[in-house]
Amino acid sequence: MEYHIAPLFCRPWTLNGISPRLIESHYEHIYGEALSRLNGITKELEALDAATTPADVINRLKRDQFTELNSTLLHELYFASLGGDGRALPEIIAGAIARDFGSVDRWRHEFVALATALSGSSGWVLLTYIPRDGQLINQTASDHGQNIAGGIPILAIDMYEHAYQMEFGANAKAYIAAFMRNIDWNAVQARYQDASEVKPPRRLEQKQFADLPSITVEEIKVMLDLGTKVQIIDTRPRHYTTRAQDMMEGAVWRDPERLDDWIGELSKTEPVVIGCETAATLRKAGFDARYMAGGHYAWKAINGPVKLFE
Ligand SMILES: [Fe+2]
Repeated sequence: MEYHIAPLFCRPWTLNGISPRLIESHYEHIYGEALSRLNGITKELEALDAATTPADVINRLKRDQFTELNSTLLHELYFASLGGDGRALPEIIAGAIARDFGSVDRWRHEFVALATALSGSSGWVLLTYIPRDGQLINQTASDHGQNIAGGIPILAIDMYEHAYQMEFGANAKAYIAAFMRNIDWNAVQARYQDASEVKPPRRLEQKQFADLPSITVEEIKVMLDLGTKVQIIDTRPRHYTTRAQDMMEGAVWRDPERLDDWIGELSKTEPVVIGCETAATLRKAGFDARYMAGGHYAWKAINGPVKLFE
């Protein structure tokens, strides 16, 4: 694969307080050279036989390819972030930012603070949309890495010294202020709209239990904290429980193979939280039974209290 240079979108001579010389040098040298290194490394990788190449060689090449690819992607976003007047946010992006940060002002303060915190070191501050959460988040990306997996950055400020030193010296604050004055919010909004159409990652599907009502461990924790009456039954198989060290606090273990022996102990007026298979059987028998999504493991993963197995 050959990577191609992206045109410089902003007309550098129209920027407010950032000179064309700075942007042109950044684009031609830093971005251009990253792209050329990326193509060189990619060519090298394509010529290799991965099965016979020493691990250290392939590790290094893949690491370098990652760095250069991210550098080109982020630089393209950076240049495309500039060219506006920075002030008036169009309605859709203003609404999305206010939804996820409280207000546009709050977002601005956080974004500027994160950029200021990178003065003297290097990295990026990105406004990123995460399809899984349907939310925007500000993030710091040290070097060219550390981008949120699955996140789609829609606005980027470059906090490497090469982005500002030629003109602002060590005064990163003045550079950040100039960047904020030149954000092209129409372009950011368009990228947000594209990003928000990306579907979240597909959830785990368990077709056989598709219609069975479930309850999350967080919901159960709230019920327990509020003192809501709920019957929690651990029905992990007997052969499994001999190895299990602990179980959920407040739960009782019952052998799923011997349901007939203990079904009579259950109340039909209180909800039952139980394993998938048994929940299906109990619902047929008229109980308000739901299975706990993620089971025992999810409970432990949220630090739910446990006790030693009975
Ligand atoms: Fe840069």
